[in-house]
This record gives sequence, structure tokens and C-alpha cells, in this order.
Amino acid sequence: MRESRWWILSLSAAALMVVLLTLHMGLMHLSGLMKVLGVDPGDVRSFAAVMERGRSLAQMVFYLLFLGAALYHGLYGLRSVLLEVTPPRGQGVLSGLVLAAGLLAFAYGAYVTVRTFTG
Ligand code: HEM
Repeated sequence: MRESRWWILSLSAAALMVVLLTLHMGLMHLSGLMKVLGVDPGDVRSFAAVMERGRSLAQMVFYLLFLGAALYHGLYGLRSVLLEVTPPRGQGVLSGLVLAAGLLAFAYGAYVTVRTFTG
């Protein structure tokens, strides 16, 4: 894939984060505003609600999407910054290290998320 496509993917990940963060803030932290808009999310931060969400497939998909988008966007941006100060011969190694860090972090985050879901 050409570099510009990875960049567009990073912008798409940022756009996805905006959507997911808006949902998260609306449902978890701005219930007063949501009620004014005609949606009552209920008592979403009680212990029982947190436990129930942990077993929800939609919540698991949400977490995995958010994890992937945030890791990709953040690490792609970090790589762009570091490439500016890395000599050409080290750029392949840098990209490989960033990719490995992202895959490891995603694997760990996904493992924890799926383990929570499956109980
Ligand atoms: C909804 C949340 C976010 C939005 C809308 C957003 C949006 C953007 C945009 C538009 C850029 C510029 C891309 C470009 O022109 O090349 C950018 C760059 C960047 N973002 Fe984000 N971002 C978000 C969250 C994050 C998070 C959570 C992190 C870190 C964990 C992060 C790290 C970076 C980095 C390191 C850059 C590159 C900066 C540079 O090239 O100088 N962003 N972001």
C-alpha cells in the first residue's frame, strides 16, 4: 500500500474515534444532555451495569474497534514524527518496531477484552 493510503487510514481511524468517543461521552458521562434529547441511558455506571456490559457483544466490538483505531492512529502519528529525525537507513527498522509494538498492544488489549466478554 502506498504511504498516502496508510495516512488516509490514520485519518479514518481518527474519524472513527470521534464517532466512538461521542457515543461514549453521550452514554456514559452526559446522560443529562441525552435525556434532554429524548434518550435515557439509565444508570450506566452502576456496578451491575458495568458487569452486564462486560458480557455484551456490542460492547466488545466497540472496545476492539476503539482499541484498533486509537493504536493505529496514535502509533502512525508517532512513527511520522520519529521518521523526521531518523536517517533513511534506520527507517525500515523504525517502522518494524512501531508495527510490532502496535500488534503486541492490540493482541494484549484484545485478549483482555475477549476474556472479559467470555467471563
Ligand atoms: C478523536 C480523536 C482524535 C482526532 C480527531 C485526531 C486527529 C488527528 C489529525 C487530523 C491529525 C493530523 C494528521 C495529518 O495531517 O497528518 C493527527 C495527528 C496525530 N495524532 Fe491524532 N487525533 C485524535 C486522537 C489521537 C490520540 C488519542 C493520539 C495518541 C494516542 C493521537 C496522536 C497523534 C499523533 C502522534 C499525530 C501526528 C502529529 C504530527 O504528525 O505532528 N491522536 N490527529
